[in-house]
Amino acid sequence: MQIFGVDIGGSGIKGAPVDLDRGDLAEERFKVLTPHPATPDGVADGVRQVVEHFGWAGPVGLTFPGVVTGGSTIRTAANVDKSWVDVDARALFTERLGGLATTVVNDADAAGVAEMNFGAGRGRRGTVILLTFGTGIGSAVFVDGELVPNTELGHLELGGHDAEKRASSKAKDDGELTWEHWARRVTKYLAHVEMLFSPELFIIGGGVSRKSEKFLHFIEGIQAEIVPAQLQNNAGIVGAAMRAAKDG
Ligand code: BGC
Repeated sequence: MQIFGVDIGGSGIKGAPVDLDRGDLAEERFKVLTPHPATPDGVADGVRQVVEHFGWAGPVGLTFPGVVTGGSTIRTAANVDKSWVDVDARALFTERLGGLATTVVNDADAAGVAEMNFGAGRGRRGTVILLTFGTGIGSAVFVDGELVPNTELGHLELGGHDAEKRASSKAKDDGELTWEHWARRVTKYLAHVEMLFSPELFIIGGGVSRKSEKFLHFIEGIQAEIVPAQLQNNAGIVGAAMRAAKDG
């Protein structure tokens, strides 16, 4: 079965039909740039362009970089336009897509669902935490394979700061930090999350998962196993489609 997945990020809106049996894209994905400011209206237009590119006429799952309740309502917007807060995103996207059924899910939760089923978390029991390092830090917490949604661990306090402001990959770029310097911050952050949840496994996602050889060896003193995500750039698209399939 195929469902369309869309990943709404700070720089791009990417989508493709997803083959749910393989947990992979059925066609090469198509991307448009995220408008700035990333308002509901502008983003919905970008989503329409991506879906129309494929002439898609079935259900669509979408990620959003903030808290999303009930597959629909946006509750926070840390790194996108604040006018998203309280928007009924399902109604907005369904209207803009000419009536197609839509489901909206937090971006890290979507990536986590994909990794647990088809990637680095496959078959893993106990507490597993996927953390995505990008513009912000996203989190997806699983207990025996079940997602605890909207955990928002990127906003834990770290040394008096919002953790994602210190340890996201944007913080690395903005501060021109070396991999080692950034990895020391990530280590402190992981130690804090470990103190709270004692997970068996951390999965490191986001763009940096492709460069794990540059920093994983600098992370020391964490009890949990630490592995890079495997689905990398497509995890959000695949996970969004999986959620939409679950919603029927
Ligand atoms: C948001 C999360 C999101 C993460 C990654 C954070 O700022 O609060 O909801 O998952 O960024 O995009």
